[in-house]
Amino acid sequence: MSRLKRLEMRDITKKFGDVIANKSISLYLEAGEILGLLGENGAGKSTLMNILYGLYRPDSGSIIINGKAVVFRSPSDAIGHGIGMIHQHFKLIENHTVLENIALAYRAAPFFFPTGKAGRRLSSFKEAYGLEVNPDAYIWQLSAGEQQRVEILKTLLLGADLLILDEPTSVLTPQESQGLFTILKKLAKEGHSIIFISHKLEEVLSICTRVTVLRDGEVVGTRERQELDKRELARMMVGREIDFELSRSECDKGPEVLKVKGLNVKGDRGENSVNGVDFEIHEGEIFGVAGVSGNGQQELVEAITGLRPIEGGQVTLRGKEISKPSPSIISRLGVSHIPEERIKYGTAPGLPFYENCVLKQHTRPSFARRLLLDFSSIKRQAKQIMIRYDIRVPSINVPVKTLSGGNIQKLILGREISAGPSLLVASHPTYGLDVAATQYIRDQILKLREKGVAVLLVSEDLEELFQLCDRISVMFKGHMVGIVPRGAFDLEKIGLMMTGLAEAPLLEECNGYPDQG
Ligand SMILES: Nc1ncnc2c1ncn2[C@@H]1O[C@H](COP(=O)(O)OP(=O)(O)OP(=O)(O)O)[C@@H](O)[C@H]1O
Ligand SMILES: [Mg+2]
Repeated sequence: MSRLKRLEMRDITKKFGDVIANKSISLYLEAGEILGLLGENGAGKSTLMNILYGLYRPDSGSIIINGKAVVFRSPSDAIGHGIGMIHQHFKLIENHTVLENIALAYRAAPFFFPTGKAGRRLSSFKEAYGLEVNPDAYIWQLSAGEQQRVEILKTLLLGADLLILDEPTSVLTPQESQGLFTILKKLAKEGHSIIFISHKLEEVLSICTRVTVLRDGEVVGTRERQELDKRELARMMVGREIDFELSRSECDKGPEVLKVKGLNVKGDRGENSVNGVDFEIHEGEIFGVAGVSGNGQQELVEAITGLRPIEGGQVTLRGKEISKPSPSIISRLGVSHIPEERIKYGTAPGLPFYENCVLKQHTRPSFARRLLLDFSSIKRQAKQIMIRYDIRVPSINVPVKTLSGGNIQKLILGREISAGPSLLVASHPTYGLDVAATQYIRDQILKLREKGVAVLLVSEDLEELFQLCDRISVMFKGHMVGIVPRGAFDLEKIGLMMTGLAEAPLLEECNGYPDQG
């Protein structure tokens, strides 16, 4: 049924000014294949796929479908040839509903929104693929994970023969990712082709039939799945061996830094997103928050960092109540924040790299002389962050919006960690980072802990939580259903708590959880 039998990209080159994002790249794909596209942050993956989707024109090279050269002037040309793409950063219209977004993209759209028709198709797809999402919710109300599901549904509804997925699982839970893989395998079996970009090597190995690896804009190699393992993939990507071990020292916990008591927070729809949450974090402690996205984690973090009003309860930082102040006051009190929606809340995309390195910190004495900014010290700081976090930018003067996804993430991490916080609030800190950068960031978080920083770590990656945390709490439907100490970490148990199937009684210990009976 698939119209696309064989697709080829031949000698594709694309430059942005002096940056050669793609250097004479060739790859091919046949119906029913799942091709993995791998490479470090900034290697050129998104650029290459944006060319295939008609968003960018290559400087040279060609795209050949079923033996015939094609030229895409826009994504609608690509869609016309059965190519669909789910982007790394969502392209949904914030103040429209899920259904309206889907109807807008729907090819058969007449002059009015065909919401009735789209709605019927949406519910049949939702059921067939188990992608749960409320069609009447506004996009701005959705978590990253939910928005991702809308993007996937939209592309499926467009009837794509080839699905390009640019880091689709970064924001999905392990269970949701498994669900997605089932769908992808099913689609491939039906004759669809898939190009799958991910930094998670296990995922690539579990679903791809073939893998092409890029480095610095060039193809390093293409291998069949059976010729590969995790180490070999990592070596191809970075050109050296990667050490997957982290050293985590014993560390005494110090005085209390953050205390959250009886916290109630409302979500965007006015619902009770956080219900009576209690916990505290001490110096030198990493406190994890696990949970399926949309269970109140984001609202919890926003309340603590001053981005969302508190309805009830208290947040205190070293004994000082911070239940009311603004984000900038909280930042000045020594709270660093790595937000879930990085582009929106973490950067000013149009401003140069160096200015983004001191956002919210520009009034500090180190960066300001009286009323004026001290640009030489700001630029010195920017250069340090660039080197220490291995951020690939042509210069510190380029606007942040031209950076690759992972490099933007490294910038935010570098800035927030170098601010010398006493509390670091990190939501999905390694989302979108390549293997080497992920190891580096996890190591940096452990180093902060050794220095006595308190860390609140929200992540859906249980492996990450297990590696880093001293305690892991689980949120389900706005409640903290339990807190598990290191030593009692258990994948299955925490997984069950995340889905609401196991509640607090399974817990051995409940430090800071008074309702425990
Ligand atoms: N619109 C643009 N303007 C200028 N430079 C760009 C633009 N888009 C990408 N680049 C540059 O091209 C290079 C490749 O970027 P690309 O986004 O393709 O990387 P990637 O492999 O997708 O990385 P990541 O894993 O971090 O998403 C980077 O150096 C990036 O800064
Ligand atoms: Mg990318």
